[in-house]
Amino acid sequence: MPQGAKSVHTILEQSEKADLLRFTTVGSVDDGKSTLIGRLLYEAGGLYEDQLAAIRKDSGRFKREEFDLSLAMDGLKAEREQAITIDVAYRYFSTPKRHFIIADTPGHEQYTRNMATGASTADLAIILIDACHGVSIQSKRHAFIASLLGIRHMVVAVNKMDLVDYSEEVFRKVEEDFNIFAEKLRISDLMFIPISALKGDNVVKKSGNTPWYEGSALLSHLETVHVQSDRNLIDLRFPVQYVLRPDRNFRGYCGQLAGGVLRKKDEVLVLPSLRKTHIRSISTGEKEVPYAFALQSITVTLEDEVDVTRGDMVVHSGNLPKIQRETDAILVWMDEKPLKTGEVYLIKHTTQLLKGTVAHLHFSIDPDDLKRKKAKELKMNEIGRATVQFFRSVFCDDYARNRETGSFIMIDPVTHATVASGMIIERGHLPLMAKPDEKASVKSPFLHRQEGIISLKDRSRLLRQKPATLWMTGLSSSGKSTIAFELEKRLMAEGRLCYVLDGDNVRYGLNRDLGFSPQDRSENIRRVAEVANLFNEAGVIVITAFISPYREDRAQARKIIGAERFIEVFVDAPVEVCETRDPKGLYKKAKRGEIPEFTGVNAPYEVPESPEVHLKTGEESTDLSAGKVYQYLKERGCLEACE
Ligand code: ADX
Repeated sequence: MPQGAKSVHTILEQSEKADLLRFTTVGSVDDGKSTLIGRLLYEAGGLYEDQLAAIRKDSGRFKREEFDLSLAMDGLKAEREQAITIDVAYRYFSTPKRHFIIADTPGHEQYTRNMATGASTADLAIILIDACHGVSIQSKRHAFIASLLGIRHMVVAVNKMDLVDYSEEVFRKVEEDFNIFAEKLRISDLMFIPISALKGDNVVKKSGNTPWYEGSALLSHLETVHVQSDRNLIDLRFPVQYVLRPDRNFRGYCGQLAGGVLRKKDEVLVLPSLRKTHIRSISTGEKEVPYAFALQSITVTLEDEVDVTRGDMVVHSGNLPKIQRETDAILVWMDEKPLKTGEVYLIKHTTQLLKGTVAHLHFSIDPDDLKRKKAKELKMNEIGRATVQFFRSVFCDDYARNRETGSFIMIDPVTHATVASGMIIERGHLPLMAKPDEKASVKSPFLHRQEGIISLKDRSRLLRQKPATLWMTGLSSSGKSTIAFELEKRLMAEGRLCYVLDGDNVRYGLNRDLGFSPQDRSENIRRVAEVANLFNEAGVIVITAFISPYREDRAQARKIIGAERFIEVFVDAPVEVCETRDPKGLYKKAKRGEIPEFTGVNAPYEVPESPEVHLKTGEESTDLSAGKVYQYLKERGCLEACE
C-alpha cells in the first residue's frame, strides 16, 4: 500500500502522535485546484491503484488531452461529469514529515457555504490564482472568508505559470494586487508561490523554470509551516458528546477535546452543575493515556459520581468559558430562505442542540471591498454581524480564542437544513474606552494637559517608595479584599503610603451608576484604572480588589496605568471554594436565579494568562498570600525610592 493510502482512521490515530496539517484549497472554477490536489496526492504517493486506473479510463472517456490529475480529486460524479466541484471533499495523504488532511472546497460564487464548512477546521488555506487572469473578486472573497474563519496561514499559489512563460512580472503583479487587499484582513502568515500544477513546477520540487523565485516549493512549505502553537492548549474545554455505560460499574464520557490539555487527576468542574471532581482516567481509543490535548477524541472517567449528560462541559475550575444566553456573532448565511430576525432556529453549539433567534442584524459585510452595509436580512452567501439569543445558556469562547467553542451552526427547525454558520465575537464595547493618550476621544479639542512642578521622583523620594498598582482579580469570595486589606496593614505598619480601592466600596460612590453588564463592568474597570493611575501619580501604592472578569478590560487597565506600574495578581480559588465561603450568600442567590449575570455562575470569568503574581487562595492562608505579594513588591524595587 502506498504510504498515502492509509485508512482515515490510521491517519487520525497517527496524527495524535505525529504532526498533522489540515489545509484547504480554494479557487475559482478552472484555477486548477483539482489538478493541484491531484498532483500533490500523486507525487506524495497518496493515490490508490484503483483510483489511478479510474482516472486513466475517465481521461479517455472525456477525451482529455493529458492524463488528467484533476480527475483524481474525487469520486464525486457531478464533478467528474460537469467538471466542477460541488461539495467539500476530504483527502488524506502523508509524507515522511507530516500527515495531511485536505478539505477541497468549491470555487463557485454560490458555494461560500461549502467553503465555510470545509475551511472551518483548516490550519492553512491555499488560494489558487490563475496567472493568466490575476487577482479576481473570487480570490478576494476566498481570502476574506478564510481570514474570517480564523485561518492564520495562507498560501497564494499563482498557478499556470507555464502559460505566462514563467514570467516574474506576472507573478509580482499578483503579489502586489493581493497584498493591497490582504492588508485589510487579519492574516498572520501570507506566502506567494509561483506554480504549475499541471507541469509540476514548485509543487513538490523547486522548478528550474522560476530561477527568480527564492522561496520553497509548496509541499516543503506545507511540511514545515509551524501550526502547533495555533491550537488553544490553555483553556480546557471538554464538551461531552455521549455517556458510555456498558454496565453498572463503568461510566465514561466521550467526546472531542475542544481546547486545552487534560491530565489524569486534574481537578475539574462540570458545567452547568458546577460540580467539582477529579479525572480518574483518560483513554483514546482502547488505550489509557496520562493526558490528552485539544482535538483528540477521548473517553474519560471521573472520581465521583456526578451527573453528567450530553451537552455538559468539563473545564478546569478557575478557567471558565463564557456562559451566555446572548452573543454577538459573524454569520455566514447559507440558505435560499434569507435570515429573518426574530425567527426561531435550532442551534448546534459544541455538543448542545438548543433553540435560538437572531435578535438584531447589525450590518452585512461586502466581501469585495470589506465595507459594512445596512441590512435588514442576509441572503444566501451573505455575511453579517448579528446579536444571537440562545434559549438556554451556552458555554462558549470567542472564535478568535477557540474555534470549537467559538462557533455554532443554525438549522431550520422544519427542513433541518443548515442555514448559517456563526462565529462568536467579542461583545460590543460601547465607545467609552477613551485611551488616555488619544486626544481625539476627549470631549473638547480645547483640553490641554497641565504639567505640575513636582516630579514623580520628588514624590518617590519623599515617600521612600515607587508607586505601583497591585491589581487583584478573581471571583467573588476568592479573597481579594481580605488579602488587600491585610497587605495594606503590613505596608502601613512599615511606613508605606498605600490605599485599597475595593469593588463594593467604589460601587457605593464613584461607580454607583454602574451595574454588572459587560459594558458596565468595563466602565467600572476603566474608571478604577484612571483613579489608580492618579493615586500612583501622587506616589501612593494602590491595591485594587475588583473581580474584573474580562481580559480585555484588565489589559486596558494595564495600558491606562502603564505596564511598568501595573502588577496583575490572580486571586485564584476554585468556584466551589468561593461558594462554600460565600459570606454574603450571593452564590446561593445567583444559583436560585435571583442575581442575573453573577460571575462564576451565569457570567464568565476569564482567567489571567500570565499574571505577575498567582495566589492559590483555596490552598494557602491569607497571611501567606499577602506575604507573597509583599515579597513581589519588594523584589520589584517598589519599596525603595527612585534613584
Ligand atoms: S466587576 O466585575 O465590575 O469587577 P466588582 O468587583 O466591581 O465587579 O464588584 C463585585 C461585587 O459586587 C461582588 O463582590 C458582589 O458583592 C457584588 N455583586 C453584585 N452583583 C454582582 C454580580 N452580578 N456579579 C458579581 N458581583 C456582584
